[in-house]
Amino acid sequence: MSDTFTALMIEDEGGKPKAAFKQITIADLPDHDVLVEVAFSTLNYKDGLAVSGKGRIARKLPMVAGIDIAGTVVESRSDKWKAGDKVVLNGWGLSETEWGGYTRFQRVKPEWLIRLPDAFSLQDAMAIGTAGYTAALCVDALEAWGTIAADQREVLVTGAAGGVGSTAIALLAKRGYKVTAATGRPETHDYLTKLGATAFVDRATLSEKGGPLQKERWAGAVDSVGSTTLANVLSQTVYGGAVAACGLAGGADLPATVLPHILRSVALLGVDSVMAPIAKREKAWERLARDLDREALSSITRVEPMSRLPELANEILAGQVRGRVVIEIGK
Ligand SMILES: NC(=O)c1ccc[n+]([C@@H]2O[C@H](COP(=O)([O-])OP(=O)(O)OC[C@H]3O[C@@H](n4cnc5c(N)ncnc54)[C@H](OP(=O)(O)O)[C@@H]3O)[C@@H](O)[C@H]2O)c1
Repeated sequence: MSDTFTALMIEDEGGKPKAAFKQITIADLPDHDVLVEVAFSTLNYKDGLAVSGKGRIARKLPMVAGIDIAGTVVESRSDKWKAGDKVVLNGWGLSETEWGGYTRFQRVKPEWLIRLPDAFSLQDAMAIGTAGYTAALCVDALEAWGTIAADQREVLVTGAAGGVGSTAIALLAKRGYKVTAATGRPETHDYLTKLGATAFVDRATLSEKGGPLQKERWAGAVDSVGSTTLANVLSQTVYGGAVAACGLAGGADLPATVLPHILRSVALLGVDSVMAPIAKREKAWERLARDLDREALSSITRVEPMSRLPELANEILAGQVRGRVVIEIGK
């Protein structure tokens, strides 16, 4: 085990969060019960905010950034885990209140970990990462609501070419739904078609303010954009349909009325991945292992070295990242 290793730390610089690569040791890590050697992490929108300093994600400093971990247990003071176990960690406040995954080693709480599903390598698990696991939580929420399976109408995915959107399309298409992708990047249509999208909506048509009850079109939707887009999607959802909302790529506001809910029984299903209980996580990962085609997964993924994180953070915030970015730790 090397004495010092590189971590991407967020520190305070003149009252502002600033990311920099630092050399740290095992002794610097938090005193949690399981020591994990991190093989891969990922780049999510939230990581972009944290690393660029454009969002105040870390609530205490210094903080190791990175909300995802895939790696191997090195030491454990918990009966639940032993050296050599392959594990995955998504969320649980990493990069906010707990040190995260952009580091060769991290100490974590045993209850935060799930076992790497047999279907996946550590790299696959991070190709999925928080974005993909959140997409699975959204599809779980829609199916638990129960209306889309019986309806042959379309299911809409907004932010389609992003990490959540790409995975949601692949999962929904595999289940046999007719998937429409809302994207602002026409150049991604071929890519989204290969994932299973059969129709497209220009995202600009959803970002203009619309009426409270528009023509009913969507049997269900996965929304990672929020704001006016989410308001329009709710207004276009069929009687009894549901929208799983998980993101704010277009804004955190929701300029909507209650009319779709009280006149069409449309449900707005909020989805949080960070503090989701273990049972929900395991169900989402089971869905991913069953329904996510390996070819689709590799087509949405690129692997980048940890050293490129500062540039990649700006790329994801500028909406230039397609699909998922795996971060190889130690590179
Ligand atoms: N609730 C949770 O636990 C949870 C978990 C994961 C992610 N999230 C949130 O979900 C969102 C998506 O995450 P991600 O990792 O998929 O990010 P991402 O890879 O950056 O994808 C976001 C996509 O949203 C679209 N978009 C960006 N800016 C937009 C704008 N101004 N108006 C309309 N569409 C816009 C783009 O899609 P096109 O290029 O196709 O137009 C972009 O690719 C983020 O807000 C993230 O914070 C929440």
